[in-house]
Amino acid sequence: MSARGALRLAVLISGRGSNMAAIARACAAGAIDAQVVLVIADAAAAGGLALAERLQLATTVIPAQQHQDRERYEAALAAAIDGCGAELIVLAGFMRILSASFVQRYAGRLLNIHPSLLPRHKGLHTHRRVLEARETEHGASVHFVTAQLDGGPVICQARVPVLDGDSEQTLAARVLAAEHRIYPKVIGLMAAGRLRLAGDRILLDGRPLTAPLTNGETAAAAHHVPAPIHR
Ligand code: GRF
Repeated sequence: MSARGALRLAVLISGRGSNMAAIARACAAGAIDAQVVLVIADAAAAGGLALAERLQLATTVIPAQQHQDRERYEAALAAAIDGCGAELIVLAGFMRILSASFVQRYAGRLLNIHPSLLPRHKGLHTHRRVLEARETEHGASVHFVTAQLDGGPVICQARVPVLDGDSEQTLAARVLAAEHRIYPKVIGLMAAGRLRLAGDRILLDGRPLTAPLTNGETAAAAHHVPAPIHR
């Protein structure tokens, strides 16, 4: 743990929570200098809640139906996020579109993972669309969240091949395994203070990132101690 303490994460989920678990396990193993302080689900039925409890994480459910409109819903989300002292908000299969004002409030502190090689295949059913288009490569992207859906600056991408005979399920499983590798690594770079958003540019160690990191580069960056900047 650094002198300033592990980076406090709020992880927002709607479903099974496998990315949340991968991140929590990386934190618990000391692989990254971060801690999951709260898991927020938008429905009590989210399978990831039970998983979070097994991992001894604090959880809360903020169901959208119990709020009159998106503004009130997001006010409740923000209260939970701010109340737990989260420094980084990690969307991990959170199936709600957040308003521009919510995104702005947490600018540079809001990450998402999307199961495609953005900017290709924004939105839903990415595995099906890749198979239908007979593409030979697929993957996942970790990006800063902006008001454009799945359109924020991409930090890291993992590529996987599309294999002969792949079904949506086999392809999705290959992509998901890659997601579990890259999301904790990106959070580790955030926790080390190495990565930040400046306007619409990503800075890694103070230098603009000209292309998304690959899985391998992210791992290498995690082991690289940047030279001190002399002024
Ligand atoms: C992942 O495929 C992620 O890319 C997408 O939603 C899915 C969440 O899976 N945003 P899980 O709930 O983390 O298992």
